[in-house]
Amino acid sequence: SNLTDFINALPKAELHLHIEGSLEPEMMMDLAIRNNIDLPYKSVEEIRTAYKFSNLQDFLDIYYQGMNVLQTEQDFYDLTFAYLEKIAKEGVVHVEVFYDPQGHTSRGVAFSTVTNGILRALDDGQEKLGVTSELIMSFLRHLSEEDAFATLEEAKPWFDGRIVAVGLDSSEMGHPPSKFERVFNAARDLDLKLVAHAGEEGPSEYVREAIELLKIDRLDHGNRTIEDLALTRKLASSGIAFTVCPLSNLKLCGVANMKDHPLKKMMQAGLKVTVNSDDPAYFGGYMTANFLSVVEALDLSKDDIAVLCRNSISGSFLTDDEKQQHL
Ligand code: HPA
Ligand code: ZN
Repeated sequence: SNLTDFINALPKAELHLHIEGSLEPEMMMDLAIRNNIDLPYKSVEEIRTAYKFSNLQDFLDIYYQGMNVLQTEQDFYDLTFAYLEKIAKEGVVHVEVFYDPQGHTSRGVAFSTVTNGILRALDDGQEKLGVTSELIMSFLRHLSEEDAFATLEEAKPWFDGRIVAVGLDSSEMGHPPSKFERVFNAARDLDLKLVAHAGEEGPSEYVREAIELLKIDRLDHGNRTIEDLALTRKLASSGIAFTVCPLSNLKLCGVANMKDHPLKKMMQAGLKVTVNSDDPAYFGGYMTANFLSVVEALDLSKDDIAVLCRNSISGSFLTDDEKQQHL
């Protein structure tokens, strides 16, 4: 449609994408066969039917189960390149990809296997599709601080510009940002950029901790920030970017209906909001689908869409010169 074409034509960056969450059911079946892995599903339809979630943990259980089919460097390459091919058609010129190394090393797949497979696809994506990218390593917050420190240590050979940032994801409730203050301090000392999921299910207090204790450069989700007016004002004036994920919030029941989504209120409060897909294979859509979902439900204007796209470029970790080329 007209609106789809308008969205696709605007240069934009995806800043919140877990590459393991781009594993489509078809590829899951193919890799299960290729690697001789038993799946609890007999068909693609059965997999899709299992994708009914009532909260974040419901989803995470299925997501960690799904990633078991990823075994070889080629698997991580194929996963990543398939994602890049999809978003190149949606006007995404730049992506900052998250991955969960602990989700793989804990089941015996080497850190280097995972990381090098993803990076080789990102290099090919730049060369063959013209999509630039950065890689962000996320710590699983349900695991210990010690485990995160060990992962940081293991990643050091890639801190020469291949892994540019660390993030924090997985089960939010009961695992506040404060649990990782020392690891984030260590990452900052290594000149890494810092991001963290906060305020997805957790309270605005977790957003405050992510800002004040972890001193993050960008906030993932942050939907519940607006429950704290003083914090909202502070983050509006700081200009920190929020990576909002509308279809994710709907599928994980953060909102009952897309009409209840806080994205427009967040924009009106002066926050630098961006639109992202989170785990597109699990939540029912890539970038354009996420834009369409809020544009329709919240009656956003073409100007609003353009602002969201510009925010994604300015909120990225590109250099000022690189940003200028897209703005
Ligand atoms: N939230 C927390 N952890 C995650 C998510 C998410 O949306 N996706 C993948 N890991
Ligand atoms: Zn996420």
